[in-house]
Amino acid sequence: MTTKVCDTSPSTAWSDELADWYSANHGVHPSHEIVVSTCIEHLCTLENKETLTLLDIGCGNGSVVQALASQLQCDRIIGVDPTPRMIEIASEATRNQGLLTQTEYYVSGAECLPVVDHEVDWALAIYSVHHWHDLVMGLTEVKRVLNPAGRFFVVVEERPDLDADCSELAIKEKIEANGFLLEAQATHKTDAYHCYLLLFRLPN
Ligand SMILES: C[S@@+](CC[C@H](N)C(=O)[O-])C[C@H]1O[C@@H](n2cnc3c(N)ncnc32)[C@H](O)[C@@H]1O
Repeated sequence: MTTKVCDTSPSTAWSDELADWYSANHGVHPSHEIVVSTCIEHLCTLENKETLTLLDIGCGNGSVVQALASQLQCDRIIGVDPTPRMIEIASEATRNQGLLTQTEYYVSGAECLPVVDHEVDWALAIYSVHHWHDLVMGLTEVKRVLNPAGRFFVVVEERPDLDADCSELAIKEKIEANGFLLEAQATHKTDAYHCYLLLFRLPN
């Protein structure tokens, strides 16, 4: 496992206190199960599963990275987050679960991804896009790192306290306006959460 600093995006990195609070209270979000099973369902249809590279942008405490690493035999699962404390918590939990071989973590915002061009088969952004410091720069980075057949899987939460700018519709429109095509979408609503799963691809 590697932990290195690419860009700390200080304007959107969270404080240690907020990272600790988030991890303790929402670190394993009830929707992560459906998020992970949706990824696995899609990835299992691919022929080259063992050589895939996955990238979780704004991975927080690494709950989804760990769930994917424990269920999928793929080459690399990379988690990035600009909040150093999140990466510390994610690295420790991953070590404790014995999932070091496939995983890497970097302190990095979406705006500066520590990955070479076209290396990523599946990029995820779970409840993180509305936190990005510069959405256009982040999306340009996602396009740079995705391989042409790759997918960008975005999960957005519907919450009454969020601005209209953070709604599923607004985020979807911004991503499409930046060159991605919506391939599939689903909604999951329970007493605990209401989320949208959006799957994008790049134009041919
Ligand atoms: C609501 S949490 C979601 C964490 C995790 N994806 C999950 O589902 O539990 C949002 C995360 O976005 C991260 N974040 C803030 N600014 C970011 C940026 N510019 N690029 C990527 N992630 C960012 C925060 O540090 C935080 O860990």
